[in-house]
Amino acid sequence: MSFETRTTEMLGIEHPIVQGGMQSVGYAELASAVSNAGGLGILTALTQPTPEALRAEIERCRAMTDKPFGVNLTVFPTINAPDYKAYAQAIIDGGVKIVETAGTQAVREIWEMLKPHGVTILHKCTAVRHALSAERAGCDIISIDGFECAGHPGEDDIPGLILIPAAADKVKIPMLASGGFGDGRGLAAALALGAEGINMGTRFCATVEAPIHENFKRQMVELDERGTNLIFRTMHNTARVAKNVVSDEVVAIERAGGAKFEDIQHLVAGKRGKAGLDSGDVNAGIWTAGQVMGLIRDIPTCKDLVERIVREAEETIRGRLAKAVA
Ligand SMILES: Cc1cc2nc3c(=O)[nH]c(=O)nc-3n(C[C@H](O)[C@H](O)[C@H](O)COP(=O)(O)O)c2cc1C
Repeated sequence: MSFETRTTEMLGIEHPIVQGGMQSVGYAELASAVSNAGGLGILTALTQPTPEALRAEIERCRAMTDKPFGVNLTVFPTINAPDYKAYAQAIIDGGVKIVETAGTQAVREIWEMLKPHGVTILHKCTAVRHALSAERAGCDIISIDGFECAGHPGEDDIPGLILIPAAADKVKIPMLASGGFGDGRGLAAALALGAEGINMGTRFCATVEAPIHENFKRQMVELDERGTNLIFRTMHNTARVAKNVVSDEVVAIERAGGAKFEDIQHLVAGKRGKAGLDSGDVNAGIWTAGQVMGLIRDIPTCKDLVERIVREAEETIRGRLAKAVA
């Protein structure tokens, strides 16, 4: 029972299931668990305070799995930017051969650094035009992230049901479908829409190995498909986060009109969200999650989750779909 696609071949993985980079979650515990389950686990570079800490985290992950894993490097539109190139150098020095990138145009400099080292670049984006320009620039795989996704869905508001086949019609390199995937029906649908695998964020947060407080995992089971808020809409830097008292307040301030970043800064501060993640207070700050919470009903191990998704996808295709063909 397995799916073989260009992505499984290029990434050297058993199942076409990738765990997207996740700030404050993408540590070695989760990445190695996903890789050991036959998917692709990904460490998040900027979750480490320094490039040196990232080097150590790469070593830690390598000690926890002998399977391939990747590192995410996200280039944010921010004034006090971290030293992205130093993080990229740590990835190269650490011998990591798969990198997931995301973010602003400045990411191109990172691609140029990585490519001579034979790194497979998996670029995550939210628009067909961005996927095509990443393909032209020599990226190897596209993760196309629909409006359903946790984090930054872009400003076009195109859901996966349209975005994935629209991209598949134009992009020639392999694509992973991202945003809203959490079960085998989703994997079967992604393959039907022209993708060659799925990328999941939120679903992997609600697993035994995700290194976050149990309260957040339980909240992901509790919340349904209406359990997210879109913040920073008025600032054209939309982020999909879990619905809670803090994100409700941000939305209310933005809806009132004329809000500047300074008006909401105290609510959205990263420190506040991180303190909540550590203490287990789901209302302490904002935290990232997607609409797929409507499909999350348990907290399995990564191995059980990956195996279940593959089994369900196969049953869907060989059973229900095959039977429906007259
Ligand atoms: C807690 C959390 C943190 C995230 N942080 C990042 C990040 O730092 N960089 C990035 O490219 N994507 C980030 N994402 C997005 C995921 O990599 C992935 O694209 C997204 O979760 C897919 O949508 P889904 O949650 O519906 O599966 C994050 C997602 C979550 C849930």
